[in-house]
Amino acid sequence: MTLVKVMGFTLLLCLVFLAVTHLLPQVEGEAPVDKMIDLDVLTMDGFIVMGEQIFNSKGNCTLCHKSPPLGRAPDIQGADMVAVAAERLADLRYKGVATDAETYLRESMKAPSQYVVAGWGKTGAKGERSPMPAAHKAPIGLSNIEIDAVIAYLQSKDGHEVTVALPTEATAPVADSVPTPTATAAAVIKKYSCQVCHVVDAVGGSVGPNLDRVGGRLTPEQIHESIINPNAVIAEGFVSGVMPRDFAEKMTVKELQLLVKWLAEKQP
Ligand code: HEC
Ligand code: HEC
Repeated sequence: MTLVKVMGFTLLLCLVFLAVTHLLPQVEGEAPVDKMIDLDVLTMDGFIVMGEQIFNSKGNCTLCHKSPPLGRAPDIQGADMVAVAAERLADLRYKGVATDAETYLRESMKAPSQYVVAGWGKTGAKGERSPMPAAHKAPIGLSNIEIDAVIAYLQSKDGHEVTVALPTEATAPVADSVPTPTATAAAVIKKYSCQVCHVVDAVGGSVGPNLDRVGGRLTPEQIHESIINPNAVIAEGFVSGVMPRDFAEKMTVKELQLLVKWLAEKQP
């Protein structure tokens, strides 16, 4: 009788163990995979879908260009960008070298300061410099093929003819958007795209303050607060409401601790 009870209990333990291991997230083995574009099967419809995915993930475009707008940039998801491009080219302020929607959109991504949409210029630069990071450079770093895919998506979403050509050579791998397991502060910075707005380790944008010496300005507690509650204290010379407010929900405790400790050590 005791033997049956012991065996029954052992069996129960095994089942509980199995259930628990199945419920645990499978973190290991989910490192990002580089996918090559398979040119033999790539159609224009596939290229457009690829562009939409890049816009929403790797390109980080929706960090600023979201519909409904977040107040960080013009709403290019909601607007007909082919029509907008025609207006920009007809504007007397236009000094770029684009001649049509395709070239305007490419120029907007690679050289954002060529034409700065009225009211969206960088503070202190008399509207002559764009706060948008160039899409082909770090931290966004899209390849020319990826930029073409985004143009195809922007043209097709409002029913316009797509004028970009399908790529003929897979010169760049397309990174999958599978999240990376984060073990270092640098990986946390990458995962949450802080460099789209901040210079970190000498790379990044200027929408927010340069963080390379932030440990000299702020205590670890203040850095912690700035990340989870960005509107509590506004850095001098910058506006509130720009830094995302959902890091507190998105980050794990470990990620936040890594980040705060690492940034606090960045002393002048
Ligand atoms: C850090 C915020 C930010 C990110 C990220 C960003 N942009 Fe922008 N973008 C802006 C701002 C601000 C403007 C308006 C100033 C200007 O004209 O450059 C702009 C302008 C543009 C314009 C011109 C809009 C017009 O009405 O003429 C296009 C096109 C554009 N962005 C595309 C993109 C794409 C595609 C991505 C992703 C690869 C992207 N942007 C990422 C902030 C951003
Ligand atoms: C869309 C742009 C944007 C992104 C993305 C962003 N920030 Fe910010 N951040 C800002 C702006 C603008 C400010 C200045 C206004 C303020 O203090 O809220 C700021 C302020 C800060 C400050 C205070 C700096 C000081 O000198 O007072 C810290 C620290 C900071 N951000 C860290 C981060 C970290 C870490 C990430 C990534 C997890 C991040 N930010 C992502 C825009 C951004």
